[in-house]
Amino acid sequence: MAKRLFLGLELPEVSRQTLAELDPHISGLRWLPSEQLHLTMSFLGDVEPEAQERLGEVLNPVRVPSFFLPIEGVGAFGGNRPTVVWAGVGNGHPHLSALHKHLQDAVLRAGLEADLRPFHPHITLARAKNVARSTLKPFLIKYAETEFDFWKVTGFALFSSNLTSEGAQYTVELRREF
Ligand code: 2AM
Repeated sequence: MAKRLFLGLELPEVSRQTLAELDPHISGLRWLPSEQLHLTMSFLGDVEPEAQERLGEVLNPVRVPSFFLPIEGVGAFGGNRPTVVWAGVGNGHPHLSALHKHLQDAVLRAGLEADLRPFHPHITLARAKNVARSTLKPFLIKYAETEFDFWKVTGFALFSSNLTSEGAQYTVELRREF
């Protein structure tokens, strides 16, 4: 059976705890539990088992040197009625971009469709429904420049996502250290 897959980076437990605890408890804002926090590198959608196996093979040689990423600042995508509240990872990320490119190449080599939208690396913290940006403003201002963590990225993971009525459940299908 096909699985809904994406490539991403696992965050350290302490960073996830820190981010999960930022919840400002605003009505309409669904804060993600710490175990769901990650950085998406490439969303693949539904993938059949044979294609997943091919992907595992082409991901084998994907390697970049380990690198550090800050987790800093927050923002919201979606204009006046934001849909996603996120934490940022800074601006200068040559290593992250290189890894992204390698992963996209691997996805194409496996015969899958790569997520071709521009890469805006972020850590989704919450999903919003019917929340005005003005309501989020105090939160966005408070943490606009906060450095939450400095994180050493030592690998990446292939996740499956199981959508349930209580939100998505993510399972690591494969983990690769550099
Ligand atoms: P997001 O955090 O920016 O929403 C698992 O669903 C991950 O894949 C999410 O973190 C999500 O990114 C990302 N993703 C990208 N495109 C998606 C899509 N079309 N549907 C669902 N998730 C998507």
